[in-house]
Amino acid sequence: MKTEIRPGIYWVGAIDWDLRDFHGYTTPKGSTYNAYLIVDEKVALVDTVKEPFKDELLSRISEILDPARIDYLIVNHLERDHFGSFAGVMEVAKNAQVYSGERGSKGIVDVYGERWPVTAVKTGSTLSLGKKTLRFVETPMLHWPDSMMTYLEEDKVLLSSDAFGQHVASSERFDRDASFDPLDDAKIYYANILMPFSMLIQGLLGKLPGLNLNPEVIAPDHGIIWTDPGKIIEAYGRWSKFEARPKVVIAYDTMWGSTEKMAHLLAEGVMDEGGVEVKFYNIRKSTNSEIVSEIQDAKAVLLGSATLNNGIFPPVGGFLYYLKGLRPQKKIAMGFGSFGWMGGAVKEITARLKETDMEVLDGLEIRYPATKAQVEQCRETGRMIARKVKGGQ
Ligand code: FEO
Repeated sequence: MKTEIRPGIYWVGAIDWDLRDFHGYTTPKGSTYNAYLIVDEKVALVDTVKEPFKDELLSRISEILDPARIDYLIVNHLERDHFGSFAGVMEVAKNAQVYSGERGSKGIVDVYGERWPVTAVKTGSTLSLGKKTLRFVETPMLHWPDSMMTYLEEDKVLLSSDAFGQHVASSERFDRDASFDPLDDAKIYYANILMPFSMLIQGLLGKLPGLNLNPEVIAPDHGIIWTDPGKIIEAYGRWSKFEARPKVVIAYDTMWGSTEKMAHLLAEGVMDEGGVEVKFYNIRKSTNSEIVSEIQDAKAVLLGSATLNNGIFPPVGGFLYYLKGLRPQKKIAMGFGSFGWMGGAVKEITARLKETDMEVLDGLEIRYPATKAQVEQCRETGRMIARKVKGGQ
């Protein structure tokens, strides 16, 4: 079945129902690799799909026209989920001319040499297909240095590459038809893919009017197409500013249960104060992706670890490394944990947290299971955190 976004603009992507991991990001709902075919006096294909899905892409194009008729192949992004079928498509679309951003063009030559000539475009460059005009907008680091977007001037459709995407495989292509709220999936995607680039997203959103970009449709390279883009643009505004709710995320791992007990006491302390939501995760029983999705709009994160060999328990270390890479901001952070003979995990967590832009509180470390006095100390620490989250001290 053909999926037409606007007259002459088709979705021709692939649905990856089975994807469960996207470079370390757990994707329980799968994903799609969206590609777009624009049919005018000339024919342009914007992006391809992950290599194993090349035949699905070509089959969808063939429902509309012979892929050999493609005049232009626009490469918005070189990551393999969108570029993997590039060579396979070029072998079929033998006359296609390739367009990409400056960095993308260099990348294509780095991968394939001079096999296919590439025209480098910049922000503001245009390509006429006849009645439709493609305008290019470079968006470095959203999500790679080569990333750019393609705007269909007359139709006001923004082909936004990774930005505004969601990892979800579905039979529906449009937000208006979805049986789920794609904003939920977009939030998880933002936290796990785009959080480190929040400043750049702020910059892009601020530049939209100056660039004369006023999209009525935003069609990303993953998931649902936004026909009501105001919602996702507003959400990106909030997420990129790290606007947070009164929420504390507690994530921990434990060796003999004492750190877990501390986690529960901290949670009880937060709840004592009222008005602050708690999200609670044993790191080994949860995915990194779901935890950071909650941290995205939380005001505080408490990270607990037992000590193993004077350092952080490995599952917590892995999570901390993942979190640090996403560069969370504007949050309170604190380490906690129990140890048996030397300790070291809380000191290490605190040091690593201080390498982020979060406000790091002194850690809470106790030896052996908490004594009666330490039980109260943990609980009071939870209350103190809740008060800080609510804006008091
Ligand atoms: Fe969907 Fe950065 O690739």
